[in-house]
Amino acid sequence: MELALVILVFYTLCFAITPTLASSMSKPGCPEMCGNVTIPYPFGIGSKCSANSSFTVICKNSTRNSSRTVPYLSSINLEVVDVYIYGVVIVNLPVSPINCSEGRQTRESLPISLPGSPFTLSAYYNIFVVLGCKTAVWFHSNGTRVGGCLAMCDDANATDVASCNGINCCQTSIPRRVQEFEFTYQSIQASNSSFCGYVFPVDKKWLQNEDYKRYKGLVDDLSNPFDHEFGFVPLIQSSGCDPIEDVDSEGFSSISEIIECPSSDES
Ligand SMILES: *[C@@H]1O[C@H](CO)[C@@H](O)[C@H](O)[C@H]1NC(C)=O
Ligand SMILES: *[C@@H]1O[C@H](CO)[C@@H](O)[C@H](O)[C@H]1NC(C)=O
Ligand SMILES: *[C@@H]1O[C@H](CO)[C@@H](O)[C@H](O)[C@H]1NC(C)=O
Ligand SMILES: *[C@@H]1O[C@H](CO)[C@@H](O)[C@H](O)[C@H]1NC(C)=O
Ligand SMILES: *[C@@H]1O[C@H](CO)[C@@H](O)[C@H](O)[C@H]1NC(C)=O
Ligand SMILES: *[C@@H]1O[C@H](CO)[C@@H](O)[C@H](O)[C@H]1NC(C)=O
Ligand SMILES: *[C@@H]1O[C@H](CO)[C@@H](O)[C@H](O)[C@H]1NC(C)=O
Ligand SMILES: *[C@@H]1O[C@H](CO)[C@@H](O)[C@H](O)[C@H]1NC(C)=O
Repeated sequence: MELALVILVFYTLCFAITPTLASSMSKPGCPEMCGNVTIPYPFGIGSKCSANSSFTVICKNSTRNSSRTVPYLSSINLEVVDVYIYGVVIVNLPVSPINCSEGRQTRESLPISLPGSPFTLSAYYNIFVVLGCKTAVWFHSNGTRVGGCLAMCDDANATDVASCNGINCCQTSIPRRVQEFEFTYQSIQASNSSFCGYVFPVDKKWLQNEDYKRYKGLVDDLSNPFDHEFGFVPLIQSSGCDPIEDVDSEGFSSISEIIECPSSDES
């Protein structure tokens, strides 16, 4: 069974798409598919077929199932799950359980490195999640604290992960346009188990669709989820054109047509 963690990668589509490209989404003469994934320009299989090395895809045997061919985005070394022509890439982000056997603070980096690439973690499509409990987590980006959340335990299991409301699961938003992340965690409750959950950014739909239920170990014991097959989540990356969420005077939010692109962001 495959464990998918959804990483959303967003990139700017600031390329002139010439009319000759209209009939095929890939560069003329280039393969369009790798495995079951369509690879539209500016992405391309091999360096001659991509706009530049940031978008070069390598098609190789999956490390998890050698009889499947899967695309890897070589510039950031992550498996591509899907590419949308309007500027979103979904990649598989590796996840591993955190170790809370001691009360000390532990600092870790996400297993993803985007600085120097045109990609950012999409703040619109992704959310930070702490699965499990007994844990306080702080998120850092570029040396600054950018958020945190506290997951408390409810041993009476009176919660589901999908609502992720602070009991056995907590969530917090991702700042806009970040390329690197670290987190610090500290257990807030004595425990005999060294694993106490998972910390990761993920495609919001992964939580809403209850995709975690594919991993029995994650739902068997919400206070201490662990599943050895849970190895990846889908994450969405972009190169900057996230939809902007407007909040009106009454607090209702809506998506405006405006696309936030790097060149228009002076902050
Ligand atoms: C490709 O196939 C895999 C495994 O069957 C599936 O999980 C994935 O969603 C498919 N991707 C696309 C873009 O259809
Ligand atoms: C990929 O898998 C196929 C079939 O299992 C095998 O024949 C081929 O040698 C593999 N390629 C690489 C580069 O490992
Ligand atoms: C590996 O991939 C092949 C081809 O997509 C599929 O038939 C097979 O079921 C997969 N095996 C596992 C263990 O997922
Ligand atoms: C967790 O950390 C403790 C203390 O560093 C260590 O003894 C233990 O082996 C670790 N557990 C796992 C599963 O890595
Ligand atoms: C590839 O093009 C994108 C978009 O123009 C740019 O942001 C990125 O830096 C380029 N990558 C390289 C390796 O030149
Ligand atoms: C990160 O910090 C450095 C130095 O403080 C600053 O120059 C840079 O603009 C920051 N980058 C982002 C994306 O905030
Ligand atoms: C715990 O979960 C089980 C299975 O979902 C359910 O039957 C039971 O009622 C739950 N217990 C509490 C106290 O909510
Ligand atoms: C840890 O294990 C010991 C021995 O099995 C037990 O006495 C103790 O109550 C456990 N502590 C917790 C917090 O579960």
